[in-house]
Amino acid sequence: MVQEHELVLVLDFGGQYSQLIARRVRELHVYSEMLPYNTSIEKIAALKPKGIIFSGGPASVYAKNAPAIDKRILEMGIPIFGICYGLQLLIYMLGGEVIRADKREYGKAMVNFSASHSLFSGLEDKEQCWMSHGDYVSSVPEGFISCGYTEDTPFAAVANEERKVYGVQFHPEVKHTINGMKVLSNFLFNICGCSGEWSMGSFIEEQVEEIRNRVGAKKVLCALSGGVDSSVAALLVHKAVGDSLTCVYVDHGFMRKGESEQVRGTFSGKFGINLDFVDARERFMSKIASVSDPETKRKIIGNEFIRVFEDEAKKLGKIDYLVQGTLYSDVIESGTGTAATIKSHHNVGGLPEDMEFELIEPLRLLFKDEVRIVGRELGLPEDIVSRQPFPGPGLAVRIIGDITEEKLDTLREADAIIIEEMKKAGLYEKLWQTFAVLPSIKTVGVMGDERTYAYPIVLRAVSSEDAMTADWVRLPYELLEIIANRIVNEVEQINRVVYDITSKPPGTIEWE
Ligand code: XMP
Repeated sequence: MVQEHELVLVLDFGGQYSQLIARRVRELHVYSEMLPYNTSIEKIAALKPKGIIFSGGPASVYAKNAPAIDKRILEMGIPIFGICYGLQLLIYMLGGEVIRADKREYGKAMVNFSASHSLFSGLEDKEQCWMSHGDYVSSVPEGFISCGYTEDTPFAAVANEERKVYGVQFHPEVKHTINGMKVLSNFLFNICGCSGEWSMGSFIEEQVEEIRNRVGAKKVLCALSGGVDSSVAALLVHKAVGDSLTCVYVDHGFMRKGESEQVRGTFSGKFGINLDFVDARERFMSKIASVSDPETKRKIIGNEFIRVFEDEAKKLGKIDYLVQGTLYSDVIESGTGTAATIKSHHNVGGLPEDMEFELIEPLRLLFKDEVRIVGRELGLPEDIVSRQPFPGPGLAVRIIGDITEEKLDTLREADAIIIEEMKKAGLYEKLWQTFAVLPSIKTVGVMGDERTYAYPIVLRAVSSEDAMTADWVRLPYELLEIIANRIVNEVEQINRVVYDITSKPPGTIEWE
């Protein structure tokens, strides 16, 4: 289906912003996919792209095993736009010169656009752009003109009209390049001749039709976690197959305040979806009550989740399809995943290995922010659409040490206050995560002339792009004060609030 759209490919050379390029292209209503730089020319030709963008990357073109491409790609007559390493590679492969700079150019730079060219139409003579490179192009092959330069970079923008090959040393996909979107848009519309017909509305219609044709009258099962991905996936499939879909929601008892009720109200109530709401709180609690080791907690919850899910699936008879909320970023990352496992993440969608079914992954072409757009278009309440990420084992990994019902209630109340105040301050949606942690220590305090001996709450607020790294957020003192006062006054068993000012690394986002 999607192949029928105009497509602009991003070839990935391992750059930090490669995914972002594809997202930006889609924001401009042209469908874009990212593929590894060594994708075969046959595969590229079969996709009939209207244009190809070469991403940035950490290598130097002279390095041993530097990523390169099949040179015939440059002869296909498809417009090509190189960014940073992508530009250097193009120039190097076509006979120009790339050299190592004495000092790395990193950060904001003013680019002087010296020649008018359709790739840069609408730009001022001087524009703020974002640079991040060591090597630079020192001379261009015949047929190329320089369109822009900075103090340190003689060829910050180049064009070869005849070959339809273009490149920039700066990163147009990054917001710090003020008019970067204009450059990308010029490439898509002025040079590749795209019409800009990709939209979320058309995506929904196509997915619904495709799922409907595929599933027919067979049975579909979806593990609903209450997070945005599984919620949107479920709604999309429900729109396609209605009652053939059953969603299973396992309440393990470690959810945030009001979350389980909201899932029931939304999916069963508002959307009339067949919802198998499993109250497994006692089952999980009995398994985990005396466990304090974080990895053991995760494993128990993960295994127990699978068992509960299996029991429910059996009741439904033969299942033909299973819905997964896999995103495009997961698709891109699988296959390159070599990162060390820091924590064994239990994905709530992680499922029994011996169940036989085909997967339906309706979001596998979407980035997270696109999933949110689809969710809104499908009428998912904003509370769920903009919900921050939440670990599969939930509050069980935010209570340090052993878990009791009392501690769960305490943490839930404190967490709810934090979320409420963050929303009031207009910060909830801007931050990656904001939450409370309950450590297993008690400290002395004094309230109303009385000595107290109670737990502290740790407040954690982080910003992040992808959870691989995160920064602690400099929340305003006034907001910290409001949150601390409310928690100490309103939540029993808490007499102190502390703020976690550790970034990731060296910390992780969660405390367990
Ligand atoms: P850490 O704590 O490793 O977390 O910096 C990175 C991101 O992953 C989330 N997280 C989990 N998600 N199951 C999940 O589905 C888990 O066991 C789990 N542990 C952490 C965490 O909330 C953060 O967004």
